[in-house]
Amino acid sequence: MNILVTGGAGYIGSHTCIALLEAGHSVIIADNFYNSKPKNVEKIMEITNKTITFYEIDVTNAAAVERIFGNNQIDGVIHFAGLKAVGESTKKPLKYYYNNLVSTIVLTKACIKYGVNRFVFSSSATVYGDNSVPFFETMNLLQTTNPYGETKVMCERILSDVAIANPSLSIAILRYFNPIGAHESGLIGEVPNGIPNNLMPYITQVAKGKLEKLKIYGNDYPTIDGTGVRDYIHVLDLAEGHVVALENLTNGVHIYNLGSGKGTSVLELVKAFEHANDIEIPYEIVDRRPGDIAECYADVSKVERELGWAAKRNVYEMCRDAWWFERNYKE
Ligand code: NAD
Ligand code: UD1
Repeated sequence: MNILVTGGAGYIGSHTCIALLEAGHSVIIADNFYNSKPKNVEKIMEITNKTITFYEIDVTNAAAVERIFGNNQIDGVIHFAGLKAVGESTKKPLKYYYNNLVSTIVLTKACIKYGVNRFVFSSSATVYGDNSVPFFETMNLLQTTNPYGETKVMCERILSDVAIANPSLSIAILRYFNPIGAHESGLIGEVPNGIPNNLMPYITQVAKGKLEKLKIYGNDYPTIDGTGVRDYIHVLDLAEGHVVALENLTNGVHIYNLGSGKGTSVLELVKAFEHANDIEIPYEIVDRRPGDIAECYADVSKVERELGWAAKRNVYEMCRDAWWFERNYKE
């Protein structure tokens, strides 16, 4: 298939492009490089030894999107392009609602106009809010704590309504848990803007000496050791999950959790990182981070049952590959 990957130069998108190319598909990337660099596209080509067509466009620009659909035979769309900084979304909500909603509307409109029926959307476990774990797809979604999370809830709603009105559409909504790690080449990985908000990039920057020590946000949660529990998934497993979802799409909307199904605490992840890489990570316990929940992990039985997909890589591999990328990375 010929797949349009919006946000394909970003963290999850670039790994998914590799998985798509390795599975024999062709890739067209549309990215405005707001949070990524054009050289990521070159690195994908270097890793796979395959060529990619790419367009530097903003996918909220309907005319630019339509030109891509008009000039290429597209069989499916994977829509990664979006803004994802939770903290910034509380300060600039309109920027987040505009970018994440308008891009989704523009793309689905183009799909309908050009008869492209396969659509895969990047959602997030954040849509579950503070439900009780494990989170499963049919749960009622609870209020998220920030506009970023609300954009995901709203896009899910838009796509569900559009699918009802357009029965030939096949839409997969993939709710990612916590993707970490990197491609084993060390060429592509997660490059946060400024001081990282997320745990793994913070740890790798402490390991590199760029940051002094990790601040652990609270050790008084009702969890195994008091620190927050999350479901970490290797970004390559996540990438492969997209290929499986895309290849097995049938009409209607299908929601899947993409996680490992296992909870890991902050302290457990720190220990796994130290073990996997033989590096000590200094840390201190500080106050809880507002908006955080105690535990977040997936029930993955639906995706296993319906798509035959399960995450294969363990936290040691995630820690090893995240560190390998950070060690190799130069600004
Ligand atoms: P990322 O920032 O690395 O990648 C997003 C890419 O989209 C970037 O290359 C950026 O330049 C591009 N982009 C953003 N807005 C655009 C626009 N209007 N037009 C064109 N390109 C645009 O983020 P990521 O971690 O790879 O996340 C990909 C998707 O997955 C996002 O939608 C994000 O919300 C979602 N998601 C991510 C996580 C996570 O932990 N990383 C978790 C759940 C969901
Ligand atoms: C965060 C976002 C969430 C988003 C997800 C994936 C917030 C409040 N939530 O979730 O919306 O979908 O990323 O991008 O930002 N931690 C520390 N010290 C740190 C960083 C994190 O102790 O420096 C802890 C957190 O308290 C949490 C765990 O590590 O318990 C994981 O945090 P993080 O990587 O930010 O992911 P989430 O909180 O799951």
